[in-house]
Amino acid sequence: MLTRVAVAGVHGHGATHVQNVLRLPDRARLVAIADPRPPADLPSGVEVFDSLDKLLTATIVDVVVISTPIQTHVPLAAMALRAGADVLLEKPPTASLAEFEQLSAVIAETGRACQVGFQAQASEATLHLAKIMAEGKLGEIRGISAVGKWLRTARYFDRAPWAGRRTLNGVAVVDGAVTNPLAHSTAAALLLDGSTGVDDIRSVETELFRANGIESDDTSTVRITTTRGTPIVVAVTLCATEHLDPTVIVHGSEGRAVLHYSTDTLELHQGSCMTSKTLERTDLLSNLLDHRADPAVPLYCPFDATGGFTRVVEAIRLAPEPVVIPEALVRWEGEGPDRHPVVADVEQWIDRAADELALFSEVGAPWA
Ligand SMILES: NC(=O)c1ccc[n+]([C@@H]2O[C@H](COP(=O)([O-])OP(=O)(O)OC[C@H]3O[C@@H](n4cnc5c(N)ncnc54)[C@H](O)[C@@H]3O)[C@@H](O)[C@H]2O)c1
Repeated sequence: MLTRVAVAGVHGHGATHVQNVLRLPDRARLVAIADPRPPADLPSGVEVFDSLDKLLTATIVDVVVISTPIQTHVPLAAMALRAGADVLLEKPPTASLAEFEQLSAVIAETGRACQVGFQAQASEATLHLAKIMAEGKLGEIRGISAVGKWLRTARYFDRAPWAGRRTLNGVAVVDGAVTNPLAHSTAAALLLDGSTGVDDIRSVETELFRANGIESDDTSTVRITTTRGTPIVVAVTLCATEHLDPTVIVHGSEGRAVLHYSTDTLELHQGSCMTSKTLERTDLLSNLLDHRADPAVPLYCPFDATGGFTRVVEAIRLAPEPVVIPEALVRWEGEGPDRHPVVADVEQWIDRAADELALFSEVGAPWA
């Protein structure tokens, strides 16, 4: 029998989820969508509601995909779980540790499954790298760095009221470079270290900056020390000269690995030898359907495996407001919705932070 799927939040990234359900006609049927802004066109037979509450009252669904603003994740996911559905919840799953604990309790109480949309965790490239690290093939692990050099224009921050906010109407949002657009970097680094659990983090040091006129950080270094003792440095910006593939770099005594998680490509550098291969990725919704059919099939990213990541979100939520990067170090390019800041030499400072597993202030970035 086909699994009855509903999608909450169908514009933005939600449009990809709608297409993804339609891509699985042998396994799933898109029965309804919930969005306060109804979509222009949908396949016939799909019911449209302006809230998930109304959808769940009117329709029986097996799985709800939630791709809505961060601050709505916990109430919507709890509602879907309590209605008896399994959930695919977009990242970042929650905006605080308290919310993480709240949703953990609902998952335990309902016994339903909740997969989180960290798709890099279902990449064979990520999992192969984790395996060779565990086998000692990279030697002793000195640390892991997560590098993101992205370019986001005014259009990105203007698309929704929650974009670039730390809070909205007193509710935590924490939509910064580390916690949202480049969240996969931190989550993948934690997975590689085997430190995904809520108790796997010893400390989180944050240095948050911004060039955009937003509340949140757009140019940051964060150093996570896991309870295994691994330093993980996240060095990211949304104010780069050009938009580049994000990477997670593992620094080992016997070699270095570079994971390009958005393309599932893994590079291994050992001595003068470099190999590169692009692997497959399992779709997170398909994996959730497999898990529903046979609970022995593990989820790639179960909610509890985002506890370590949520510790980082919590540290950023509680950190002082991001420091404004001085105007002299920022060049503005483009017009209107294409306008965007470029932070001087930000790529070079990110590379140094990543190589040295250091924060911007420790490598001497001029804004820090
Ligand atoms: N996994 C990924 O690679 C990836 C990529 C992009 C975005 N995301 C995540 O997807 C989520 C949505 O991001 P976005 O950029 O598409 O946001 P967006 O604001 O552009 O779109 C959100 C959608 O949700 C709808 N919505 C708002 N409140 C709602 C509610 N209460 N009930 C139902 N629908 C509601 C909006 O009308 C809109 O259609 C975020 O959690 C984001 O981090 C994940």
